[in-house]
Amino acid sequence: MKNIKCLLTGIFAVSMTFSLSAQVRTEQTLEKGWKFTRQDKTEFSSPDYNDVKWQSVTIPHDWAIYGPFSINNDKQEVAITQDGQKDAMEHAGRTGGLPFVGTGWYRLTFDVPNYTSGDKVELLFDGAMSHAKVYVNGSEAGYWPYGYNSFVIDATAFIKGSKGNKLAVRLENEPESSRWYPGAGLYRNVHLIVTEDSHVPVWGTQLITDKVDENIARVNLKTIWNAAKGSNLDDFTIKTEIKDAQGKVVASSSDKLSRFDQSLFEQTFAVAKPNLWSPESPYLYTANSTIYQGEKVKDTYTTRFGIRTIEIIPNKGFFLNGKMVKFKGVCNHHDLGPLGAAVNKAAIRRQIKIMKDMGVNAIRTSHNMPAPEFVEACDEMGMMVMAESFDEWKSAKCENGYHKVFDEWAEKDIVNLVHHYRNNPSIVMWCIGNEVPDQRNQANGPKLARMLQDICHREDPTRPVTQGMDAPDAVVNNNIAATMDVAGFNYRPFKYAENYKKLPQQIIMGSETASTVSSRGVYKFPVKRESMKKYDDNQSSSYDVEHCGWSNLPEDDWIWHEDNPWAIGEFVWTGFDYLGEPTPYYTDWPSHSSLFGIVDLAGLPKDRFYLYRSHWNKESETLHILPHWTWPGREGEVTPVFVYTNYPSAELFINGKSQGKRTKDLSVTYENSMDSTSTANLKRQQRYRLMWMDTKYEPGTVKVVAYNEKGEAVAEKEIRTASKPDHIELVADRTVIDADGKDLSFITVKVVDKDGNLCPDAQNLIKFDVKGKGTYRAGANGNSISLELFHMPQMKVFNGMMTAIVQSSEEVGNITLKATAKGLKPALITITTQK
Ligand code: GAL
Repeated sequence: MKNIKCLLTGIFAVSMTFSLSAQVRTEQTLEKGWKFTRQDKTEFSSPDYNDVKWQSVTIPHDWAIYGPFSINNDKQEVAITQDGQKDAMEHAGRTGGLPFVGTGWYRLTFDVPNYTSGDKVELLFDGAMSHAKVYVNGSEAGYWPYGYNSFVIDATAFIKGSKGNKLAVRLENEPESSRWYPGAGLYRNVHLIVTEDSHVPVWGTQLITDKVDENIARVNLKTIWNAAKGSNLDDFTIKTEIKDAQGKVVASSSDKLSRFDQSLFEQTFAVAKPNLWSPESPYLYTANSTIYQGEKVKDTYTTRFGIRTIEIIPNKGFFLNGKMVKFKGVCNHHDLGPLGAAVNKAAIRRQIKIMKDMGVNAIRTSHNMPAPEFVEACDEMGMMVMAESFDEWKSAKCENGYHKVFDEWAEKDIVNLVHHYRNNPSIVMWCIGNEVPDQRNQANGPKLARMLQDICHREDPTRPVTQGMDAPDAVVNNNIAATMDVAGFNYRPFKYAENYKKLPQQIIMGSETASTVSSRGVYKFPVKRESMKKYDDNQSSSYDVEHCGWSNLPEDDWIWHEDNPWAIGEFVWTGFDYLGEPTPYYTDWPSHSSLFGIVDLAGLPKDRFYLYRSHWNKESETLHILPHWTWPGREGEVTPVFVYTNYPSAELFINGKSQGKRTKDLSVTYENSMDSTSTANLKRQQRYRLMWMDTKYEPGTVKVVAYNEKGEAVAEKEIRTASKPDHIELVADRTVIDADGKDLSFITVKVVDKDGNLCPDAQNLIKFDVKGKGTYRAGANGNSISLELFHMPQMKVFNGMMTAIVQSSEEVGNITLKATAKGLKPALITITTQK
């Protein structure tokens, strides 16, 4: 189905995407023309309420991301028992220090295109944070408490006609309802879907490719048919064409419904020589269905899908299309750093692109349902997804968390998640929970796990189900671990071997791993492995040697998955830094964003990015030196140098003098590196990183020459001591973007010396000015203690770098971003926008 853009003018204009077969089905996103307030009065639901004084906003909208930050926003006086805290203490930055708690109202006047009486009118919310109460023309049309899930409101009974309908949405976020920044408001899209009385409902198809080989794939399509009351079921026919990525019809079928089919069309197709979906080759097909009553078209529906198989084989691992694949995964929260929770396609795709470059093949949507834009991007770009649902079941982690609604809503929430995404090839596993306290509950825990897993199986018999468990002894003893299709363990890899032997599945997955902490461009001396280490500057070392009390360094996980077929891979905590959870600086305001990310909040890679890339990205060369080499005052002091590379060995030179050759030590095994001395000596790290622990700083150059397996010098890299800051450098991730009012260009801002070397100590305040066909959207510098507002067109670089984001308008042309700072030569960059 082809989409065309159609802009309505007038005061109640909304941005719409119509399908060409608009006669029987129209779908549009309600983006423009909304009014918003943080006040709360019952009359706001009334169609007659005058909202002219409210703020005008565009959806998706996160009301809290504009700040201001405050120690008093959701200050939580609690003991985080999962992290081993015994007594309650003040956690000021736990949820990001932003004003998401409280109530907000949104109102919109909207038209229903081509509406005729008897049509079905539905509102699909991709996610609304949270406790959404939806009013249509003054009547309460529905409620959905969980802020991360998609839900459908049937507005049919409340629609007044095609013009001037009034929609009002009340949202409320309670204090102490989250462990991270959840965002606030209508932060995902709202869709208006109009069909005839007889129609395919939202998420009304289930497509399964169960028999697949290189010659042929069997495609089963079930289409739910909600026939108008009183109609004769024998009158309906469905015609479906399966089209390949070029739009060529590769199979088709026409089938009649009968009164014995229980309102379900079932069709089977054979696709010859199928192109299989995989992260390397994300090939997509569509099933295009038209439903007729007699000769008359009653509805059209498109299901996009991929042809692929997944299988878990005991002792052997996870198999995609018959090939064993290890999960090289990351966990990510849903926020997009400086954009907050507000969904943006360009920002999501940039994150996936950065992860793919690192070698990532899977993302866990911790700890909740993803946005459809994310899943679609994973389908198209080739990224496997573990789609998660809950951080709490019946027992609380947060006083006002999901446990309060679990009994009534858990099944509905899982059903919506599974129905929404069960046709998306990127989704390879469902995850029913993260470190839920119920896992320790002998009586309830196993039953709840079984119940939630059974719901997933009932709604989707094709995908395995897991959960992230952090109490390995409890879950092995009470059989929760044995219940799961895939036993997912969070942290404690040293327990894997023992637990694997006790589990009938004979495989183990690292559902959450590492939780190494670091701050981009910050290096601490002496270089030593530390747990929960705190410094006066509230940062962690980028030598990648620091972790939490329950966690470890990247290599401490790799070694298990590399050496055991039954260890099927891992999901690192986290790919990107996120707002909230500034562990280990729980109580140290202004710390308010995480240090766990392999990439910082601005989307700038930390050193750790190159460590993972050297191990996971087998296609590209990685040769990365750390730390930077500008250390005035450290002359003559021991300043270790690490090299992250995919080559087995390398030689290091400081100002031309060899510091010796290092080779990855492949004799290290998990057995011979378990003891505390090996841990302290970074023995495991020696298998994967090249480390010169005794090098001394002298200004000049550090050069590394890498050798391949045959001992041939194959690559080299050099870094230099920077002189004083001279100018600003701007580099865009994309210089041509869409003129759709939404697309973004992410511009890396660097303070460099006259020769272009990064000035790693620079903290200059940069001011931005945007002209032309776009606006300044936001900026971030990755400094977790910075209280600068993201949307203001000025920010300090953190250790020489930040990211500035510009957004297109709907007009074609150029956008120029000018960056200026006291004492530095300015810089200008031009982005082109096109339709
Ligand atoms: C885990 C938890 C994550 C995050 C992480 C930090 O226990 O599942 O949500 O809190 O710890 O290390």
